[in-house]
Amino acid sequence: MATVKRIAVLTSGGDAPGMNAAIRAVARTASARGIETVGVLDGYAGLLDGRFRPLDNRAVGGILQRGGTMLGSARCPSFHTREVQQQALTHLETAGIEGLIVIGGNGSQQGARALQQLGCPVVGVASTIDNDLAETETTIGVDTALNTAIGYIDRLKDTASSHHRAFIVEVMGRCSGYLALMAAMASGAELAVVPEQDMLPESIVADMLDAYARGKPHYIVVVAEGASLKAQELAKHFQGHPGGFEARLSIVGHVQRGGSPSLFDRILASQLGAAAVDSLAKGRGGILTGWVKGQVTEIPLEKAIAPCQKVTPELLALAGVLAR
Ligand code: ADP
Ligand code: F6P
Ligand code: MG
Repeated sequence: MATVKRIAVLTSGGDAPGMNAAIRAVARTASARGIETVGVLDGYAGLLDGRFRPLDNRAVGGILQRGGTMLGSARCPSFHTREVQQQALTHLETAGIEGLIVIGGNGSQQGARALQQLGCPVVGVASTIDNDLAETETTIGVDTALNTAIGYIDRLKDTASSHHRAFIVEVMGRCSGYLALMAAMASGAELAVVPEQDMLPESIVADMLDAYARGKPHYIVVVAEGASLKAQELAKHFQGHPGGFEARLSIVGHVQRGGSPSLFDRILASQLGAAAVDSLAKGRGGILTGWVKGQVTEIPLEKAIAPCQKVTPELLALAGVLAR
């Protein structure tokens, strides 16, 4: 492949703390290699409209520690169709862009793979608070989002213990229970309800009553947004049990996606963003830069978007044992 002269970068899907650090790493690594970087605004939506802006070293100054994404992000349902993807490629070609870096989660990397199949070299950077990309052990934003979630649950636990209450806490995770399970384990919650495992409300209520009888001061259930048993529904089942905890519902919501990235997310984003440029510069596309055994690792996009197995029965069982 001839020397790459100009690349583009976009952020897509749910934003994640550390996306800015990844954009900065892309632009500055490219600059160091003599490659020009163009930022695409608002993910695939901006790509369809050809909304680009130059990203030199100064343009990415002061963003490392900021949450969100300075390029903007979007969900763009029309990007599922070939004609629309082809339209995006035309914009890239017209702007003289020879490779694209897609910073995003599972959905965004499916879009990246589609563009690669149409002939544009694309490298993904694993970034989503959901941690739902396969092969990579973690993704940019997970560490920060989990720290936010456990700070929230720690506070709920304080008031739950004082009032001898149960709390049903909803966290994000439309398709993945990773956030719910890890937040539950790290905050000492009694139970995680995840999309990967169906649970009956009656058995959870029985467990809550048993915890009450054993003298626990509170009962905390962390429910992933995408679990088949919804947090609101479970909260209703908790009402009217005199021999149990009075219950409250609490939804963590989008605060999990905001905030300054943690040390881990800043370093991860810096390394993955830089590695993505190196891969494109070497003429490699159709891959995701991810994190395996403490190392930046190239993962074929088709493997990265395969179903993800991070929530295991063993981890669910461990969380249960530790919460007794
Ligand atoms: P995330 O990347 O955080 O998982 P989404 O699942 O919302 O976020 O995906 C982000 C965007 O990626 C979608 O709005 C759409 O534009 C694009 N996308 C998702 N799935 C596909 C797909 N199968 N083919 C093409 N583009 C897709
Ligand atoms: O980015 C996290 C996430 O993908 C899911 O965990 C959550 O269900 C979803 O975003 C909610 O985001 P929005 O309100 O932007 O659709
Ligand atoms: Mg996703």
